[in-house]
Amino acid sequence: MEIIHVSAECYPVAKAGGLGDVVGALPKYQNKLGHIAKVVMPMYRTKFLYEHSFDVVHKGAFGMANYWFEYTVIKEANNILGFDLYLIDINNLLDREKVYGYDDDVERFVAFQIAVVDWISKWHHHPDIVHVHDHQAALVPFMMQNCFAYRHLSSIKTILTIHNAQYQGWMDWGKSQYIPDWDKYKWGLLEWDHTINALACGIKCAAKVNTVSHGYLEELRYNANGLESLFEYERGKCFGILNGIDTDVWNPETDHYLEAKYGLDNFKEQKQANKKELCVRFNLDETKPLIIFIGRLVGEKAADLLPQVIGDSIYYMEGKMNFLVLGSGEKYIEDQLSHLHNHLFGYYNPQIGYNEQLSHRMYAGADFLLMPSRVEPCGLNQMYSLRYGTIPIVRRTGGLQDTVKDFGEEGGFGICFNVDSVGDICNAIHRSVELYAEHKKMHHIIKQIMQIDHSWEKSAEIYINLYNS
Ligand code: ADP
Ligand code: GLC
Repeated sequence: MEIIHVSAECYPVAKAGGLGDVVGALPKYQNKLGHIAKVVMPMYRTKFLYEHSFDVVHKGAFGMANYWFEYTVIKEANNILGFDLYLIDINNLLDREKVYGYDDDVERFVAFQIAVVDWISKWHHHPDIVHVHDHQAALVPFMMQNCFAYRHLSSIKTILTIHNAQYQGWMDWGKSQYIPDWDKYKWGLLEWDHTINALACGIKCAAKVNTVSHGYLEELRYNANGLESLFEYERGKCFGILNGIDTDVWNPETDHYLEAKYGLDNFKEQKQANKKELCVRFNLDETKPLIIFIGRLVGEKAADLLPQVIGDSIYYMEGKMNFLVLGSGEKYIEDQLSHLHNHLFGYYNPQIGYNEQLSHRMYAGADFLLMPSRVEPCGLNQMYSLRYGTIPIVRRTGGLQDTVKDFGEEGGFGICFNVDSVGDICNAIHRSVELYAEHKKMHHIIKQIMQIDHSWEKSAEIYINLYNS
């Protein structure tokens, strides 16, 4: 089967979060199963672009409202990612340093999608599946079915994977002219709540839709940022498929980012060596439990609660633990977290920014990973932390609920709580401090979690079954 994934992110080319990790791994595992899976994404100005060689494979042009854009498709020359990688270059629109966050993001991603569809329409053959990810690619099925120039693509089956339904790609109706000449009788497919809603359109037009965990699909029926009734209506074609993790990248035995690599036989000493390195570097105490947070500093991740949670825990539990935070996002959360450092020096350290190497070192050197997310479609951090023998402290929601079982339950191994309140999170932290004091139990749990299999093999196969269906 030939599959083309359309996405805004793909690790290690460009990543802002878990979407990049998934699109950088799933196609590789689909290829290992004997299929031909490819990825097409925008050509941003990232390090990867300058460090690798590319061949030009196509040049084309399209109109978008009153503008005329020329685009070039380049292909990574050596298949170093384990799949064919295509980048779309549209001058002045896509070739920027960051993936998102520009005033013209709507124009950038609509143009990207038009270029993808235009390019596929020039292929000598049809791929079997066009697999689109999140709202930045969710207009592709509509364009393939309803734009007059591309209707010959309408028989190709499309799948939409929803990594996050909070962001939907809203556009006012004035921007409908961006979409290449389309069948105006089909306006209802674009429409949701008086605007064009790219994600809603993808849900309506794709042959199948999936979320990245079962738990999240269930939640979307009553909490989907306005799309609840659509999920209810389309439930027949919606599925939950849990993400995997790329064990070529996330493996403590081979991870080149780590100070000390480790496996089941030597994790005790080696994890401590990694912890020591972090504690020396960040002025923390290696004899205390080290609790980390890694992620986007936004409300979805309940990062706004972190300053109070950290302050209260250290104050009321008399500094029995240390915190290390790595993240970037909302300015006010960044500022509060930075400010707190002055008061809690020696107990807490914030690293504001994005740092891939440090994230690996933190998964390896920490004792606990905190994820109090309000919304978590899947969550990869908890799966990385399991693999690295770091016990997750999670709120029971979405993919976190599907992957972490409280150590108080039979066969359990993590710390779970229900409510996104400072009190509940602090209670969970209190439990982690108590658990840390029980060396034998900690040791047993670490050994247990390092062996949990969340590799992509199984889920990659489930996607193939979905395509076949
Ligand atoms: P989301 O995609 O919602 O941000 P996930 O848990 O699926 O959440 O994936 C987050 C990914 O991004 C993980 O690979 C995590 O390690 C990484 N990450 C998030 N923030 C940072 C950061 N500041 N520095 C390095 N890696 C980060
Ligand atoms: C999104 C979700 C996250 C998920 C990731 C990869 O960014 O917020 O929970 O793990 O996509 O699917």
